[in-house]
Amino acid sequence: MDTDLTTLKEEIACLKKEKNALVMAHYYQRDEIQEIADFIGDSLALAQKAAATDADIIVMCGVHFMGETAKILCPGKKVLVPDMSAGCSLADSCDAEEFARFVETRPDYTVVSYVNTSAAVKAHTDIVVTSGNARKIIESLPEDEKIIFGPDKNLGGYINSVTGRDMILWPGACHVHDRFSLEKIKAMKEAHPGAKILVHPECRKPLQLIADKVGSTAALLEFAAADEAGEYIVVTESGILFEMRRKCPEKTFLAAPAEDSECQCNECDYMKLNTLEKVAACLRDEQPEIIVDEEIAAKAIRPIRRMLELSR
Ligand code: 13P
Ligand code: SF4
Repeated sequence: MDTDLTTLKEEIACLKKEKNALVMAHYYQRDEIQEIADFIGDSLALAQKAAATDADIIVMCGVHFMGETAKILCPGKKVLVPDMSAGCSLADSCDAEEFARFVETRPDYTVVSYVNTSAAVKAHTDIVVTSGNARKIIESLPEDEKIIFGPDKNLGGYINSVTGRDMILWPGACHVHDRFSLEKIKAMKEAHPGAKILVHPECRKPLQLIADKVGSTAALLEFAAADEAGEYIVVTESGILFEMRRKCPEKTFLAAPAEDSECQCNECDYMKLNTLEKVAACLRDEQPEIIVDEEIAAKAIRPIRRMLELSR
């Protein structure tokens, strides 16, 4: 291993110990960040872990809304993100004021929001969901409940199709998942007929329809680990391949390409803003720190807690 990388990893290990810090990483983080993280997970697992930790500092290696969710759950802890500009195009597709106006004109609807939203959107929400628990939570609501689902139209459409609900969908989408190419993936399947297709529900419906498994990052990992096939076409952000290969070294995982890209994978530029250097710097300087407006946090915590209760 290169000496600079070893030194950096050693520095991070020392700082973590000295400051009683927990480094958490989403599966889309760079390989070297997943390697040093104390905990890796999908959005649900990251929120659950944040709610349960006794660390003094949480370093959330993911995107801004993940840090915000951790801060809302742990207001007394310092929550750091290595790069404050790691946003999310899906969260950005739902402006809080516009969303508030939309839900205010439908007072008889239950508002369900995907965790990929700002705290301000969560403040106008009744229940937060992740891709890992959305189906279970929607199914736990009475069949005739009127529901607004935001902001991901693809995940919302998927939940409507598997539950038979007719939720009103906010027209948002993720720039990574919304640009996978059906044609290129069909061509990959022709070249690898034995490969199973794993699809994140933020992808468009035609991709969901050709999937052997639709699920959150954790659900796709679990499926691949338990399944008997030897090869998989992975239709989500390509960072997940690191943990898939680590968990199943005997299997082959092929990254699915985007429509408009020359390369053989599809990366979230926001997730990739975090680097090992930035993780070390944020532990050293204890910033950038996530701060959430107290009034917004007091409102946003209710739907997040409701999600945690309903996912037990
Ligand atoms: P998961 O909760 O499935 O990990 O998804 C988070 C995300 O940002 C997907 O783009
Ligand atoms: Fe947001 Fe899409 Fe990146 Fe996930 S992959 S963090 S939904 S922009």
